[in-house]
Amino acid sequence: MNAPTSLTARHSLDTTVFRARRDELARRLRAAGGGVAIVPTAPEAHRNRDTHYPYRHDSYFYYLTGFREPEAVLLLVVDGDSTQSVLFCRAKHEEREIWDGFRYGPDGAREVFGFDEAHAIDVLADKLPGYFGNRGAVWHSVGYDTQWDARVFEAINAVRAASRSGQVAPADIRDVRGVLDEMRLIKDAHEVAVMRRAGEISGRAHARAMRATRPGRFEYEIEAELLHEFRAHGAQAPAYTSIVAGGANACVLHYVENDCALRDGELLLIDAGCELDGYAADITRTFPVNGKFSGPQRDVYELVLAAQYAALAEARPGQPYDRTHEAAVRVLAQGMIDLKLLSGSLDEVLESGSYRRFYMHRTGHWLGMDVHDAGEYKQAGNWRPLVAGMVITIEPGCYIRPADDVPEAFWNIGIRIEDDVLITPEGHDILTLGTPKTVNEVEAVMADR
Ligand code: GLY
Ligand code: MN
Ligand code: MN
Repeated sequence: MNAPTSLTARHSLDTTVFRARRDELARRLRAAGGGVAIVPTAPEAHRNRDTHYPYRHDSYFYYLTGFREPEAVLLLVVDGDSTQSVLFCRAKHEEREIWDGFRYGPDGAREVFGFDEAHAIDVLADKLPGYFGNRGAVWHSVGYDTQWDARVFEAINAVRAASRSGQVAPADIRDVRGVLDEMRLIKDAHEVAVMRRAGEISGRAHARAMRATRPGRFEYEIEAELLHEFRAHGAQAPAYTSIVAGGANACVLHYVENDCALRDGELLLIDAGCELDGYAADITRTFPVNGKFSGPQRDVYELVLAAQYAALAEARPGQPYDRTHEAAVRVLAQGMIDLKLLSGSLDEVLESGSYRRFYMHRTGHWLGMDVHDAGEYKQAGNWRPLVAGMVITIEPGCYIRPADDVPEAFWNIGIRIEDDVLITPEGHDILTLGTPKTVNEVEAVMADR
């Protein structure tokens, strides 16, 4: 069947990138002995009574297919030199499509997305044993979803039950995520382009939030400005729940209530990024509600910014992953001593870890389809070296809760500065560079309200 033009037009993605990833996965599975990989998309999640949460595909599944409908499963059968990619998806259904919208159906999906075979999802359980027989290994997200574990075991048992007809059940169940995580860790050109755009849109949202902020407005009003900018530029959703934290709320690292009034003289910390075509941006900016940093606010802000620059200076190929964190911690620890938040020498503060009272998280993480993206941070016990194509965040902070032994001028100052950084052969490229960041840049944007 030829896909109708209206069907191809729905999907602006170049599906060749997804085919290339399936080919690469097949190559890696072949090198590891072959077998059949089973990669399901995410289930729909019930919210209350007959309402669902907005649907979000599974990242691994999307990475290999580009297919965003629920109720879909990819099988990649790697047998000797041959590779077969098989999609199971919802059948066409005239009435359901009137109520819930368009479905590709197996034929349409095969044509548009380039699978070798496609079938209705309803026949998956019947067909699965046929793909598992004589394959040696099943590659699967072991233990991720007990229902899928059970389905895999059921299919293996069905093969075993047919052993007298010459079928041999897979002897190995292996985790496909290790192979996929290594692929996902190095972003291809398509991914970098989407992430750059996600960073631009998110940066615009932060600038819009700065312009919208003034004393008396509420955190949720500013959250609405972020969302407006995300959707106005085609991003599908926030990549994670936006943190819009005024004053003392900034010292709650995962604050998401976003329901307080913003007060003159306080700071506003916003950690928010959009999800665009399956990829996350992750930006934090902190700025004064009234548009002008106070002396103590500026002191802490400049310290966190200096820590970020120190970390960025280590962001290049060959550097162990942890080097950015070490660099940020060193600058922050010295600054905390200088601001009389801590006593002792730099070595003592680093050795004892007393800086953790004010800086209790790490300086970043992998970023990609998931905001805390796939991939191991250590190999054979050592921090892995950065490689061109990785994307990391660099996000130092300083969070000062009121206490008798802390100068009162710094109470309730919570600051984080976070950017998204692509490692390049020459060093790095900040994907969120356009987001106002220095004291002068932030104050200039806010003066323009
Ligand atoms: N927004 C989540 C994080 O910064 O890790
Ligand atoms: Mn982050
Ligand atoms: Mn963040």
